Amino acid sequence: MDSFEFTKIAGAVLSALLLIFGTKTIIEMNVGHTPEKPGFVLPAAAPAEGAKSAEGAAANAPAAAGGGEEVVALLAKANAENGKAIFKKCQACHVSEKGKAPTVGPNLWDVVNRPKASYPGFNYSDAMKKKGGDWSFAELAHFLHGPKTFIPGTKMVFNGLPSASDEADVIAYLATLADTPVPLPK
Ligand code: HEC
Repeated sequence: MDSFEFTKIAGAVLSALLLIFGTKTIIEMNVGHTPEKPGFVLPAAAPAEGAKSAEGAAANAPAAAGGGEEVVALLAKANAENGKAIFKKCQACHVSEKGKAPTVGPNLWDVVNRPKASYPGFNYSDAMKKKGGDWSFAELAHFLHGPKTFIPGTKMVFNGLPSASDEADVIAYLATLADTPVPLPK
């Protein structure tokens, strides 16, 4: 084996090693980088976003699982006067004077304990018509807490009020909209 041949072999071996370790390094770099990126992005964004979505989930989930009960529990000390102010948001779509023709939504006069989807002359969604039962305090609480969760397919495009106590207050106000106001649950 002359030195030239040795150089060639050594060169081949070195290239092979270079190829193997080079490839390995490149793979490791890439493998190392891919999980790294989301790892870096997430911790920065996650605390804020995570906290928010956890809060959101906490605020929304009870609509399906018991958020309405929380509202019902607040009814005993709900403030109908405050509810009247909050009701302005509802007036974008609802009238509430006795006998007045419905607008975007049904007239809400005397709505507490009235059968669902029963206001004369209002074209309710099929989802609302199928729901059945009366608007008890509990049903109103569940509905206002998350209209689309309580009645998927409802035409009421409204995401609920910012707090359970606002919901309780507005329901307390609804209870006053009747010839004989409905007493709040104790
Ligand atoms: C963007 C319009 C809109 C807003 C805002 C809105 N609603 Fe509605 N609401 C509707 C519509 C439309 C319906 C009929 C839903 C259906 O048929 O699925 C409805 C139905 C209802 C019903 C059922 C009545 C019945 O006769 O069966 C109640 C109770 C109700 N809304 C309460 C409220 C309250 C309280 C607020 C305010 C916190 C409010 N809504 C805000 C549009 C609205």
